[in-house]
Amino acid sequence: MTAEYVLRSLLMLFLALLSANASNWLYLAKLSSVGSINDEETCERLRGLIHKQVQICKRSVEVMDAVRHGAQLAIDECQFQFRNRRWNCSTLETMPVFGKVVTQGTREAAFVYAISAASVAFAVTRACSSGELEKCGCDHNVHGVSPEGFQWSGCSDNIAYGVAFSQSFVDVRERSKGQSPSRALMNLHNNEAGRKAILSHMRVECKCHGVSGSCEVKTCWKAMPPFRKVGNAIKEKFDGATEVEQRKVGTTKVLVPRNSQFKPHTDEDLVYLEPSPDFCDHDPRTPGMLGTAGRQCNRTSKAIDGCELMCCGRGFQTEEVEVVDRCSCKFHWCCYVKCKQCRKMVEMHTCR
Ligand SMILES: *[C@@H]1O[C@H](CO)[C@@H](O)[C@H](O)[C@H]1NC(C)=O
Ligand SMILES: *[C@@H]1O[C@H](CO)[C@@H](O)[C@H](O)[C@H]1NC(C)=O
Repeated sequence: MTAEYVLRSLLMLFLALLSANASNWLYLAKLSSVGSINDEETCERLRGLIHKQVQICKRSVEVMDAVRHGAQLAIDECQFQFRNRRWNCSTLETMPVFGKVVTQGTREAAFVYAISAASVAFAVTRACSSGELEKCGCDHNVHGVSPEGFQWSGCSDNIAYGVAFSQSFVDVRERSKGQSPSRALMNLHNNEAGRKAILSHMRVECKCHGVSGSCEVKTCWKAMPPFRKVGNAIKEKFDGATEVEQRKVGTTKVLVPRNSQFKPHTDEDLVYLEPSPDFCDHDPRTPGMLGTAGRQCNRTSKAIDGCELMCCGRGFQTEEVEVVDRCSCKFHWCCYVKCKQCRKMVEMHTCR
């Protein structure tokens, strides 16, 4: 056994301990729906949960399928929002699912934490409204006649329950031992910002009753926005995220903007501690660092999806590919649309 080997093993152990702090519960998304989480014993076997999350699982087994669904929702939304960026949110088959990218206090980690906390709140609230759960249902605090004169009825989404569950299940990691204090503050802030993105986009949906839809009586309920809206809102916060550092104010530690010229961040903004890597090159020693070789890019765009930036100046290859499209669609009485299939050649660019 060489000294190098020992050092390397110690480093691996250290990295494993570090990554234990990341949002490993997202690994639930990798479970197939067949292995349903249906009893307390299953909670013990779930990979990626810390002890306190296993306890919450046992107390709320019926909610866990919603949590798993939330994890999947978070991953899907992240991949959608980052589809045109160098880091495209691709997952690994190992933990943490986003690799090293979320174990550092970067802007990308801020997004992942926010979208994950939001997705659990969202999925649990959905499950409450759908009547699948015994512990929660619709929000019965919303009732009576509104100031605008409509009748509250139907099933208002119980967002308070979903948010409270997300706070206890997702945030518990940050309150556990071994987490660096500044990272805990960063993660907790971004978790809360993610949940706020749902709360600030709650809307009122209504239905009219009366003779041929005359709307003599209107009943309304509070509903969550579609999750895409939440994802868009959090992505916007990602674009304008604030770099912060930890400072002691009295006896408490707080995060303040690193650049004192900037106005302080709000509860809804995302914050990060470290600048991101450029994500240009594949790094086999850094799980999740895939690089941009082979990525498609847009030759005319000057933005991050453009070949210049996406390929990090390495250049790109162009090939002609055939795409099949629907075209010359005609409406036939009544009621169908008939289209032709058109083939055309388009140029596709991929990074070297
Ligand atoms: C992300 O990009 C890599 C290439 O860098 C590609 O293999 C992968 O399929 C992409 N993932 C998603 C989710 O688009
Ligand atoms: C490429 O970028 C240009 C300019 O931003 C845009 O108008 C065009 O729709 C993009 N093409 C594709 C295929 O996304």
